[in-house]
Amino acid sequence: MTPALSATAGLHEQAARLDADDTLADLRARFLLPPDVVYLDGNSLGPLPAAVPAALDDVVRRQWATGLIGSWNAAGWWEAPLRVGDTVGRLIGAAPGQTIAGDSTSVQLFTALDAAAALRPDRPLLVTDPGHFPTDRYLADAVARRRDLAVRHVRPGDLPDFLAAEGDRVAVVSYSPVDYRTGELYDMRTLTRAAHDAGALALWDLCHAAGALPLDVDGLGVDLAVGCGYKFLSGGPGAPAFLYVARRHHTTLETPLPGWTGHADPFALADSYTPAPGIARARIGTPPILSLLALEAALTAFDGVDLARLRTKSLSLTGFFLRCVDALLPPLGFTPVTPAEPGRRGSQVTLRHAHARGLAVALAEVGVIADMRAPDLLRFGVNALYTSHRDMLTAATRLRDLGEKADYDPAPPTPGPVT
Ligand SMILES: Cc1ncc(COP(=O)(O)O)c(C=O)c1O
Repeated sequence: MTPALSATAGLHEQAARLDADDTLADLRARFLLPPDVVYLDGNSLGPLPAAVPAALDDVVRRQWATGLIGSWNAAGWWEAPLRVGDTVGRLIGAAPGQTIAGDSTSVQLFTALDAAAALRPDRPLLVTDPGHFPTDRYLADAVARRRDLAVRHVRPGDLPDFLAAEGDRVAVVSYSPVDYRTGELYDMRTLTRAAHDAGALALWDLCHAAGALPLDVDGLGVDLAVGCGYKFLSGGPGAPAFLYVARRHHTTLETPLPGWTGHADPFALADSYTPAPGIARARIGTPPILSLLALEAALTAFDGVDLARLRTKSLSLTGFFLRCVDALLPPLGFTPVTPAEPGRRGSQVTLRHAHARGLAVALAEVGVIADMRAPDLLRFGVNALYTSHRDMLTAATRLRDLGEKADYDPAPPTPGPVT
């Protein structure tokens, strides 16, 4: 056997052994995945959870068609943002009554950033990561303009030094625990504490963490957090996002979009706004019930799942993939950019390659769906609820085959929308 063949055989054996020991393997049945696809893009759009079609059918045919407007009460539609919020809350370590579901991440971010600035009125700076997802940076700029503040871009690793110099001027520090491009994991505990030591608030964007990692927003004393419903939570395209606000801020929380559903007595249709008590004041307008209830059904995929065990499996999958990359891809121009240390890795592996776009397109054609971020990052998102070690090896071997034969278009057309 050639060394290359024996390396591949060894990896097949490892994958088979790791999958045989996987006590979470049965969870894959909670998703309706096409049989011949290796889906490594759940960090962008989660696949369809098996519980969703029947739940949506019931919402549409029974609750809406038969129950009509009475379903706002009878089917619990009115309470859905708070109920689904609490379900997400369980995944992020939030006790009930602090998380609300609805609107997009961008809207929730605007609310959270603006409300945080209002909670620290004498501090003129908003701090965010220069590598943060664009919407986070744009909205920090927008809130700063609106409130006459300034934005400082500080890498998470540089935060302690920055705060030592200017901490007493910072209203809020806004970061993501996982870099959406590289998959690097930052230490939420250290950064939250650093913000608090400076008297600032800590706001986290959990889009790439909720449902992927065990989180403990209450335990860490996080002030505000947002996240989307369509990545690791698999709530469907454009699923409602969530907003967490720690209970200690509720009585003073002022939201920038005081819509009627956040009123203390919405059906009084009063002339002026009085905020509802608790997180309900973060409601804005009529909630998107079909999407909310699809998300609620999707979240049942987490029923009984221990997130610490899910994290252990996720690290096993990404660690194994990095070993496959190391064994199979070195001569082909791929460089892993995700840290090898497990404690610094989210639930994704990113490889740098000059032809990342062409390779992502070609991989999809051979049944491995990953994605890329311009100009040269190939991302493999790993959701341990439905991914196996064999899937990771299939992705690596197909990537090697494409790379060896240069069997891809080096400059394919730019695709349509991706998030
Ligand atoms: C970290 C992060 N924040 C926000 C968003 C998107 O926000 P929205 O749900 O409003 O499109 C993304 C999308 O990929 C993201 O990665």
